[in-house]
Amino acid sequence: MILQKRRVFLVMMLLLVAAVTGATANPDVRDGCQERCGDVIVPYPFGIGEQRCAMNENFFLNCTSTDDGHHELWFREDMPARNISLLNGTVTVGILASFDCYDKSGGQSRLFNQSISLGPAYTFSDSRNMLTAVGCDTAATVTNKEETFGAACFSFCTGNVTMSKNNSCLGSGCCQTSIPKGLKSLDITIESFNNHEDVSAFNPCGFAFLEDKDSLDLSDWPLSRTPKQNNDTSNVVIEWVAQNETCENARANKSSYACGINTNCYYSDNGQGYRCACNAGFEGNPYLEQGCQDIDECEYPEKYTCYGKCHNTIGNYECKCFLGMRGDGKGGCQFNTIIAGKCPLHFSSIPVVAIGCFDCFQSCIF
Ligand SMILES: *[C@@H]1O[C@H](CO)[C@@H](O)[C@H](O)[C@H]1NC(C)=O
Ligand SMILES: *[C@@H]1O[C@H](CO)[C@@H](O)[C@H](O)[C@H]1NC(C)=O
Ligand SMILES: *[C@@H]1O[C@H](CO)[C@@H](O)[C@H](O)[C@H]1NC(C)=O
Ligand SMILES: *[C@@H]1O[C@H](CO)[C@@H](O)[C@H](O)[C@H]1NC(C)=O
Ligand SMILES: *[C@@H]1O[C@H](CO)[C@@H](O)[C@H](O)[C@H]1NC(C)=O
Ligand SMILES: *[C@@H]1O[C@H](CO)[C@@H](O)[C@H](O)[C@H]1NC(C)=O
Ligand SMILES: *[C@@H]1O[C@H](CO)[C@@H](O)[C@H](O)[C@H]1NC(C)=O
Ligand SMILES: *[C@@H]1O[C@H](CO)[C@@H](O)[C@H](O)[C@H]1NC(C)=O
Ligand SMILES: *[C@@H]1O[C@H](CO)[C@@H](O)[C@H](O)[C@H]1NC(C)=O
Repeated sequence: MILQKRRVFLVMMLLLVAAVTGATANPDVRDGCQERCGDVIVPYPFGIGEQRCAMNENFFLNCTSTDDGHHELWFREDMPARNISLLNGTVTVGILASFDCYDKSGGQSRLFNQSISLGPAYTFSDSRNMLTAVGCDTAATVTNKEETFGAACFSFCTGNVTMSKNNSCLGSGCCQTSIPKGLKSLDITIESFNNHEDVSAFNPCGFAFLEDKDSLDLSDWPLSRTPKQNNDTSNVVIEWVAQNETCENARANKSSYACGINTNCYYSDNGQGYRCACNAGFEGNPYLEQGCQDIDECEYPEKYTCYGKCHNTIGNYECKCFLGMRGDGKGGCQFNTIIAGKCPLHFSSIPVVAIGCFDCFQSCIF
């Protein structure tokens, strides 16, 4: 009876320990901060709710909720944030497309030119985004505020074109152009040459927008599309950096350096500043002071192979072949033939080397 009680107590203790470690394992946010807004995970340096939850004001986002309990994360007013990636250093946001619409007699009925300036730490991804324009009488231009960069594309067609997922946007009804590295502002303007006069029956509006190549689905943009109220957004990938500094200068100022322990500092491809990553053998959020924790490689044998006895070390792991075996335990262990004559006495108590010991046993007998 006493024994049973004690066992129950032990089980409860174990559960308690599991619950506590489960709650604190790899937190992605500062203590007491909300980890998600609706479906979107908001890892530090980003933060919501309280200013202290974000690294600085550049990373403080607004999470709103509607009466029906739907949450929305906002990168900026009118720009919902849909995904944040610490590894890629990106945030994917919805941005309203530019459009122009014409009535049957060629009069312009609606027009919207999108214009955005990103704050410090942010640039439009040149590797992920393309300017895309859809329409049969459509000229789209993208420039930056300083007008040191400009690109344009033209799309014409005389008949109805099906905009499908597999439309590669090379021919009629759609055109694309890329943007340069380091772009921090953009103006997307849209124009028509003939006010859609001959095409308005099947194409009353032209649209132009920046969009992540990987998520562009042209079937969302049929030629018949007309603007919906504030709902013509495309997914744009915005790159961020921890600070607009060199790693060397950033490290020199302990109070503002963004990377925690066990990390390294690296540069973004677009040359706008640095980001942080956990050192090899560590995992977690590199922007939190204690974010990068040792990986217990022995827990993930499918990723960190070990054919013998695995032993975790800080930042790495060791693997020794079992008794009677030799080799580099991470690459493989071979049965040690030299030992064949003197088998380990208690080999039967080491089940993992059963096959090796069976051989050993055989060679002992014969
Ligand atoms: C964000 O992107 C990752 C990787 O592409 C994906 O696994 C995750 O589901 C996405 N999250 C949301 C909220 O879309
Ligand atoms: C968040 O958005 C709400 C609703 O638009 C606004 O009232 C509030 O001021 C915003 N908060 C911040 C910190 O921007
Ligand atoms: C991160 O980048 C990879 C490679 O470009 C991409 O497949 C993945 O979807 C990206 N994740 C997010 C959340 O953007
Ligand atoms: C970084 O600083 C340089 C020089 O001040 C500036 O031109 C650039 O736009 C900044 N980049 C970001 C991402 O803030
Ligand atoms: C593109 O998709 C449509 C249906 O969505 C299909 O009818 C057509 O054969 C496809 N074309 C190519 C080249 O795969
Ligand atoms: C939009 O851009 C076009 C082309 O530059 C220009 O003609 C038009 O005046 C702009 N419209 C608005 C509302 O800014
Ligand atoms: C144009 O083609 C699309 C897709 O094939 C179709 O849904 C639409 O009804 C067509 N429009 C006209 C005016 O024929
Ligand atoms: C915006 O469009 C999406 C998909 O087209 C739809 O699910 C959503 O309800 C629309 N939202 C508004 C406010 O119209
Ligand atoms: C270090 O960073 C802090 C916080 O950004 C700033 O106030 C301080 O002036 C910086 N010190 C130096 C020496 O640059």
